[in-house]
Amino acid sequence: MPTQLTSEQVDSIIKARSVLPRAIAVINGKGGQGKTTCTAQLGSLMAEALRSSESTGRVLVVDMDPQGNLGLDLGYQGTPGDDGGMSIVQSVMGPSKLTPIRDVRPNLDALPGGDNLEMVPGILVARGASGSLDDARMSFLKAIADIAPAYDWILFDCPPLEPMLQDLALITARWAVSPVTFDEGARQGLAKVSKRFTKAAELNPELELLGVIMYAFAKTGGDEEVGQRKRIRAKLEADLRKVGSEAPVFKQVIRRIDSAAEASRERGQVFTELESATDGPKWWDVRAGRVTGTVLPTERAATLADEFQALAGEIFGRVLEKERETA
Ligand SMILES: Nc1ncnc2c1ncn2[C@@H]1O[C@H](COP(=O)(O)OP(=O)(O)OP(=O)(O)O)[C@@H](O)[C@H]1O
Ligand SMILES: [Mg+2]
Repeated sequence: MPTQLTSEQVDSIIKARSVLPRAIAVINGKGGQGKTTCTAQLGSLMAEALRSSESTGRVLVVDMDPQGNLGLDLGYQGTPGDDGGMSIVQSVMGPSKLTPIRDVRPNLDALPGGDNLEMVPGILVARGASGSLDDARMSFLKAIADIAPAYDWILFDCPPLEPMLQDLALITARWAVSPVTFDEGARQGLAKVSKRFTKAAELNPELELLGVIMYAFAKTGGDEEVGQRKRIRAKLEADLRKVGSEAPVFKQVIRRIDSAAEASRERGQVFTELESATDGPKWWDVRAGRVTGTVLPTERAATLADEFQALAGEIFGRVLEKERETA
């Protein structure tokens, strides 16, 4: 059922969204698909690209998840400014100013999520009961739009469940990307996203799936690997066609490397940082029994860093290409 918006509301949506054309929601309706890792890696790679080209451009990552895992991956969890999602909560309650943590990396700010976001669905249900659900959603959209001029790119890390929180990201973003692992359930997660898309389109007709990321695939090097990747790519492409999407499955597949993923989250370092970390126990000391602990998987992190670089090129490149097409 289409939402009945007043023309004033429509005007304000159009105005708000026009300042955030490069907002991307990272979403899949199933848990453990790599959403948070992708948000952290892609956001920090873009920020680093801006920094190294001496651009003053900035990136904002927004954690829409009560789990708050983005703060682990980027290492800001529990630091001053980590409000556990409170500033997002306030933005759905009424006009308020969002307060991202500045400089979690050069050129990168983060709007924290966390426990407090558990309040959001309840608030939205209550506002729905009093007939002001769209106002609450627009209030979030406007709050993001208010800070958006400071950013070139905004990435939303969506929760696996909590459709109401997913919807907030989807009505705000221009684009979405979906990481999908190899299991069947992951494809069902993609189907759930497609439903949320239809719903979000009522308030955000411009929302478009940019592409699907094949995530955490085994690298065995043999025919089996090639076969699995081909098979799943074909299934995903068929899924996309079925829902009428022209979005591609990105060429770059991200492989599964548990050691690097675990160390990255534990240390709050993205793969490009972990790859050059030197503060871990040395293998010769571990082998000689002089120290305990695990040797840092720097080479494996470098592999993932390279794969994410290539993926970032495809994703951000596709946005720019789409922008040129519509210009
Ligand atoms: N390339 C990888 N190889 C192996 N493990 C990975 C990889 N990337 C991420 N992981 C691990 O897989 C788990 C899920 O990743 P992540 O948190 O990014 O997924 P998610 O979709 O955000 O999960 P959730 O739905 O719970 O929010 C985490 O423990 C993470 O450290
Ligand atoms: Mg997550």
